[in-house]
Amino acid sequence: MKSPIIAMCLAALLTAPAFAEGEVVEINPPAEGTVTVEEGLQAWARIYEVTSHPRCSNCHVGASNRPMWSGPSYGKTRPHGMNINAGDSRIGAEFVPCATCHALRETGGNDMPHAAPQVAMDWQLAPVEAEWFGKSAAEICAQLSDTERNGGRSFLEIADHLDHDLILHWAWSPGGDREPAPYSLQEHVNDVLSWGVAGMPCPSE
Ligand code: HEC
Ligand code: HEC
Repeated sequence: MKSPIIAMCLAALLTAPAFAEGEVVEINPPAEGTVTVEEGLQAWARIYEVTSHPRCSNCHVGASNRPMWSGPSYGKTRPHGMNINAGDSRIGAEFVPCATCHALRETGGNDMPHAAPQVAMDWQLAPVEAEWFGKSAAEICAQLSDTERNGGRSFLEIADHLDHDLILHWAWSPGGDREPAPYSLQEHVNDVLSWGVAGMPCPSE
């Protein structure tokens, strides 16, 4: 017979947020030649819904170095409050470090509405080249398919990065009344793989 304490621990484990270790994502690209350009463009349209979503684009900003507050839980779209500026370091080293509030938390969490999101890795802005906020589907597609501007990644490496980046697991389980990114992490990874096998086609505008 299980003791009540063990039963309680088990219950706590089963209900713990899924993104600390990460849900298991499978990287299974479709076979070469099985995805048409048309299907690749359809996959891109869904990828764009994700990359332009506030849970991604609020951090994927350009040379202003200013994270954004946007999405339903924020009401009006505006730069991060409290005059936060990430500087060229992208981690706020020149001003107030992001980690002052976005502390590293092994278990993830901080589900209180309007509290700073905390994840199991260092919170920082995406590289300037990966500017997605306010950018079109054609612009983001051009950037993400260009190894000079995407951190030197093939589509397989992009898919792999999506699994290993714990911020991304947060984006689908953001807590605090925030709207999660659309689809699921696995569906997003599948779309990146289909788009890649189709030859990374981009919309013309
Ligand atoms: C907390 C800020 C933050 C959020 C939110 C965020 N990212 Fe990022 N992203 C980064 C950082 C930092 C890097 C650079 C990491 C590296 O190159 O190892 C990055 C890099 C990437 C890359 C690598 C390719 C490139 O162009 O640099 C992809 C793909 C990516 N992010 C996808 C996403 C998606 C999809 C979402 C939303 C579901 C998202 N990110 C949300 C900070 C963020
Ligand atoms: C003084 C505390 C503080 C500092 C320092 C801080 N933040 Fe924040 N951040 C917050 C709070 C609080 C929120 C959530 C506000 C809300 O939900 O209304 C937030 C939210 C965010 C969001 C939006 C996340 C989402 O919901 O999509 C991003 C992006 C962000 N911060 C990036 C940064 C970056 C990058 C830095 C460092 C340059 C930084 N923050 C420094 C307190 C801080």
